[in-house]
Amino acid sequence: MTHTEHLDNKVMESITKQLNEIALCSLPGTGVSRLSFSQEHKDANKIIKNWMKSAGLNFRVDDAGSLIGSSKVNSGMPTLIMGSHQDTVIGGGKYDGIMGVLLPILAFRAIDPGKLKYNLEIISFADEEGVRFPTSLIGSRCLAGTFKESYLGFKDKQGTSLENAMEAFGLNPKNILNLKRDRKDLLGFVEVHIEQGPILYHDNKALGVVTSISGIERYHISLHGEAGHAGTTPMHLRQDALSGAARIISQVESSAVSSAGIATVGSINVEPNAVNVIPSKVDLTIEIRAGTDSQRNLLSEDIVKSVYEIANEKNLKVIIEKTYEQKAVNCDEKLMDILSRSVEKFLGTSTYLSSGATHDTSAMSDLCPVAMLFVRCLNGISHNPKELASEEDMQLAVKVIADFLLNLNKSCISRG
Ligand code: HGY
Ligand code: MN
Ligand code: MN
Repeated sequence: MTHTEHLDNKVMESITKQLNEIALCSLPGTGVSRLSFSQEHKDANKIIKNWMKSAGLNFRVDDAGSLIGSSKVNSGMPTLIMGSHQDTVIGGGKYDGIMGVLLPILAFRAIDPGKLKYNLEIISFADEEGVRFPTSLIGSRCLAGTFKESYLGFKDKQGTSLENAMEAFGLNPKNILNLKRDRKDLLGFVEVHIEQGPILYHDNKALGVVTSISGIERYHISLHGEAGHAGTTPMHLRQDALSGAARIISQVESSAVSSAGIATVGSINVEPNAVNVIPSKVDLTIEIRAGTDSQRNLLSEDIVKSVYEIANEKNLKVIIEKTYEQKAVNCDEKLMDILSRSVEKFLGTSTYLSSGATHDTSAMSDLCPVAMLFVRCLNGISHNPKELASEEDMQLAVKVIADFLLNLNKSCISRG
């Protein structure tokens, strides 16, 4: 029996049904809202552990909260790491992240593990999105050794520090600096993820091999004006933080439109936020992305310069803090080639595309060779409850991953 026939018998249970079940591990409201180190995360881990158990994977949780499923460990054999993140944005979809945890587990379950000439780890990372705390890619950056201990002091909206949240989750965050892996032990990191964009959907392709991942940087802007009576303060005497913010928001958009990058003001907070008071303080975030680091730096320099200029014009004090940066990443040619051959086996051809979304793969590229397999995303809608990957495409992805896992053997053997 070929391994794909073997696969058919094993992976017939509905993937959609399993993702619908774990999607219930969410805060109330539309879409899926599952933040890191939360009760919802704890509930999701119970389900993921069952997925791992049914596939014959041993599992453990490291001190960054990464749930690590591993095949039988043969010392002296290299390790391939797969996986993605369990956390979601607020009101997100059922596929972003978690699908990339389930599909490799199903692929592993469908092959004869004794055939692998390497160790396999499949990881569910606790926090990739960076929604709860102003930092992201926590687990993957711990493995890559790029997570800084100072980040443990970052606080969520309730004032809980990342360190306290991790301790409450039963972890020992002080140990995270010891989680760094050794590059020489690794074959690489391969992530399966819903595309989150429209390219595969419009090209009518079920799967795609990722060539590169955009870089990203985030700023926290704080504008300080003067509260005043909305009825008695003439317009030319105002220090209106919100009208300054409005100018900045439209400038961010026009700078991005005339650049090779993209930029987003995703969150804003106004004080005192009253109908008859001139706003005294505004906090907002700016996120900038581009396919290359030079394109991104050009755009961010332009935006930062205009923020200072507008604040000056509006007689506002401004504090700009760069809260996050991640460089653009190229995927590994060799892993891409092995992955493409498996895609071609089932689809006849390969589609290559770059990723505007960032992923744990971005962080893992500081540690080892990386590659990504994208699954078609209906209408390219993501970070939205309407996010959808079809059962057929996901089943196909499992077959491609199973084939890839077995073909990777050859490259292990050639490693000598
Ligand atoms: O924001 C991103 O690109 C990813 O979905 N966290
Ligand atoms: Mn996301
Ligand atoms: Mn994601």
